[in-house]
Amino acid sequence: MSPMPTIRLSDGVQVPVLGYGTGTAIYQKDAKDSVIMAVSRGNMLHIDCAEMYLNEESVGSALKELKVEQGDLFLTSKCGLENTFISKPSESLERSLQKAVKGMGLSSAWKMMEQLLKEGKTRSIGVSNHRIEFLEEILKNAKTLPSVNQIEVHPYVYDKAQPIIEFCASNAITIEAYGTLASLIHYPGGPVDPIVQQIARDLGATESQVLLKWAHQITHGGPVVTTSNKSERLEEHIKALTEMGDLSDTQMQAIVEGGKQNPQRFRMEDMNER
Ligand SMILES: NC(=O)c1ccc[n+]([C@@H]2O[C@H](COP(=O)([O-])OP(=O)(O)OC[C@H]3O[C@@H](n4cnc5c(N)ncnc54)[C@H](OP(=O)(O)O)[C@@H]3O)[C@@H](O)[C@H]2O)c1
Repeated sequence: MSPMPTIRLSDGVQVPVLGYGTGTAIYQKDAKDSVIMAVSRGNMLHIDCAEMYLNEESVGSALKELKVEQGDLFLTSKCGLENTFISKPSESLERSLQKAVKGMGLSSAWKMMEQLLKEGKTRSIGVSNHRIEFLEEILKNAKTLPSVNQIEVHPYVYDKAQPIIEFCASNAITIEAYGTLASLIHYPGGPVDPIVQQIARDLGATESQVLLKWAHQITHGGPVVTTSNKSERLEEHIKALTEMGDLSDTQMQAIVEGGKQNPQRFRMEDMNER
């Protein structure tokens, strides 16, 4: 199996461009078997977690059983109002951060994130579901920029997400995509489907591979987080990011245009308010 490419964040940390999500499909469920499958069958070393998924302990027991070296793994956790993530989480610090986010506002919460970084409790600090207005507030006083903004990216949300993606690009904030397969899973039968099916036929790929690759390219090479409990699908997802050639500009734009015809989003409700 070809090695998973990485992207270098603004802080120098290298992140594998495909992440294995432990929310949504395995939300509140024991994630141990899924994570063991992802790491052992797929060599996936980027695992996306969150305190609110209520399964971080089971992720921990999977990693213990797998004996993964900490330095080899990029592990994300999120806390607060889904606003923050730290890699290599520390429970008590997450809790104080959560209180800070609720009581003190973004700039103060971000200072605590910077403190975590300074103390070496995490390798990177970033945010999730942050629209431009939130980012501007953080950037005003930040000593360290968020290295990542994890947001919903799929063809039906791209029109609204595009200004955030470009704002992040111009501030060296890497976009990490979730919800990438939404047109297949949540909104089947929409205008994007025939376009993606044609591209999949032309490239000898599957629809999900085309969508994963599209999200990776439209975010300027950002990591894509997705999930499957099926090892065949996981292999398919991995191949999209390790072996598949790039979609052409025409193919990329055809998907963008299809997405504009049926705007949909399942998260980031207020994304159009800057
Ligand atoms: N920051 C946030 O607010 C936020 C929000 C949502 C998600 N996330 C993160 O992103 C991760 C991924 O979430 P997501 O919403 O993108 O995905 P998801 O809901 O986890 O999507 C994967 C689901 O789609 C199925 N699937 C995969 N490939 C498929 C295919 N080709 N055809 C049909 N079904 C397929 C999988 O089922 P099988 O197991 O049957 O393959 C799985 O149930 C989450 O686990 C979480 O870590 C973050």
